[in-house]
Amino acid sequence: MSLRHLCRLEVATAVSGGCDNLAMLNPRNPHPGALIVIEGIDGSGSTTQSELLLAWLQRAGVQATLTSEPSKGPIGGALRAHLSRQIELSGPEAEALAFAADRMDHVDAEIVPALERGVTVVTDRYYLSSLAYQALSCDLAWLREINRFAIRPDLTVFLSVPVDVGMARFSGRAARERFEEDRGELARIAGRYEAAIAALAADGEEVKVIDGTRTPGEIHVEIVQLAAGVLAPRYPGLSMVEEAG
Ligand code: TYD
Repeated sequence: MSLRHLCRLEVATAVSGGCDNLAMLNPRNPHPGALIVIEGIDGSGSTTQSELLLAWLQRAGVQATLTSEPSKGPIGGALRAHLSRQIELSGPEAEALAFAADRMDHVDAEIVPALERGVTVVTDRYYLSSLAYQALSCDLAWLREINRFAIRPDLTVFLSVPVDVGMARFSGRAARERFEEDRGELARIAGRYEAAIAALAADGEEVKVIDGTRTPGEIHVEIVQLAAGVLAPRYPGLSMVEEAG
């Protein structure tokens, strides 16, 4: 076992504190930069909100970067091909493991190096997506286990939208991806998000659920307030007030 993996094991053990129901907790972010995650079902507006947040952080003088999952790395490329049905992974477990492997690669190659430099990382989707989408077919505890070495976000915002609102937002797109084809499936994914958010909360990891049906500007203002709260210890002068819209 490499030193890095031993360290991860130590972090996970220290965080769990030997208590069984805390054993699933992802390790806290020990780095100077903050990790902020924007989540939601397809059509929830997570990409728009991630971009608006990055722009605000930069205007506020916070060194920040925007990324997303599936990542731009080699496993992320394979997952994009899987999502657009160009290739077919063998089954739900292989799909869940591929998302977890992509995430670890994303964390090691992109997220941690930025956090170490003190850069705030905004990511459009992270492990909560796996705990919802892959939970359609896989056990939640197992999904948490295979994602347990991914650093816990400092803030996760979940954009809550009814399934029909989400579907209406992507119905105009030319090509639909794997999870955008079936209303019933998207409704089940929304239910899995609720279950995953409750499971994380039971173990002390809070996800901020906000109303994603408002205008992009209104949603952005609420996300800025949440982000400013998390960033305040790092940036004492940061204003919590966002310019309207
Ligand atoms: P999405 O985030 O909507 O990106 P784009 O708009 O570029 O298509 O698409 C990613 C899809 O992948 C989305 O349907 C959710 C799914 N997904 C998972 O199933 N599991 C995961 O762990 C992640 C990160 C995404």
